[in-house]
Amino acid sequence: MLMEKENTRTTAAALTERPRRLRATPALRAMLRETELNARDFIYPMFVRHGQGKNEISSMPGVFQLSVDEAVREAESALKLGVPAVILFGLPAAKDPIGLENFAEHGIVQQAILAIKKEIPEMVVITDVCLCEYTDHGHCGILNTGAHYHAGLPEGYVLNDETLEVLAKVAVSHAQAGADIVAPSGMLDGMVAALRGALDASGYEHLPVLSYAVKYASAFYGPFREAAGGAPKFGDRKSHQMDPANLREALREAALDVQQGADMLMVKPALAYLDVIRAVKEAFPQLPLAAYNVSGEYAMIKAAAANGWIDEAKVTLETLTGMKRAGADLILTYHALDAARWLKA
Ligand code: PBG
Repeated sequence: MLMEKENTRTTAAALTERPRRLRATPALRAMLRETELNARDFIYPMFVRHGQGKNEISSMPGVFQLSVDEAVREAESALKLGVPAVILFGLPAAKDPIGLENFAEHGIVQQAILAIKKEIPEMVVITDVCLCEYTDHGHCGILNTGAHYHAGLPEGYVLNDETLEVLAKVAVSHAQAGADIVAPSGMLDGMVAALRGALDASGYEHLPVLSYAVKYASAFYGPFREAAGGAPKFGDRKSHQMDPANLREALREAALDVQQGADMLMVKPALAYLDVIRAVKEAFPQLPLAAYNVSGEYAMIKAAAANGWIDEAKVTLETLTGMKRAGADLILTYHALDAARWLKA
């Protein structure tokens, strides 16, 4: 039944706020958009390996382990699309308890840095500084066992301070190869100070450190561990990565890294941690903040899209927009090239 005319008018007059007025046309919506995703917000992760050609990672369709020349080609495509930076992960020829190739002059990442900087010097080359892809046990540091055994610490514990010495060597070796930014990802205590000290002592005081300051012990890293061959052979990473339940601790971790001289901070993963991104951004508004849209987040979208259940482009752009709206200035994402293409279209 129709309302009486009197009544309708009364209701309408009472409604002074009509936010829908500002959503009426695509032009208005575009004009009033608060958060705008840009190709230059993206950092593209790449996996480099010895040998020739490329092979696709089964749990990450569209992502490949790349030979050095393929990595250069992929970086060129990224730059053409307006994506200004890549972050490199290396698959070494051989693994050992310390991960010697990690700081070898001709290690796979060192070769890739050299090649990319030679062909496309404008590309910002970031390197992940950690041990897990290089150690035969798959852990992020030297383990408390054998020749490194310290009585009092648990057998198999990731040794903090001895590992810092290795991380420092890795960072300097990446700097020598021409890296633009180093990014320690092991969640060890004092890792930023260790890198900063070693870089400064080696003549790289100008090289920024992007710290994986807030990194959770997350199940979303599953596909990455296949991609980088860095799954722990036993145990987990809970002695150093954070409990997903903790936010106050995130602020403590970020504060320590700022004190130690971090130039940029990162929160990882991103999707289930948007509140953490927001809190870190509010606590340290002076520093650029990155969010890592990790392998499991990528795989979920890919799998649902492959089933025809969601629209990959729309869901991806919506997700990345959410990360930026939460406070991320930069987003590490396997979708970087696709997203850059979709933004253009
Ligand atoms: C450690 C590292 C990991 C990721 C980035 N750096 C794996 C881990 O901590 O186990 C995960 C990234 C992703 O899942 O996309 N070198």
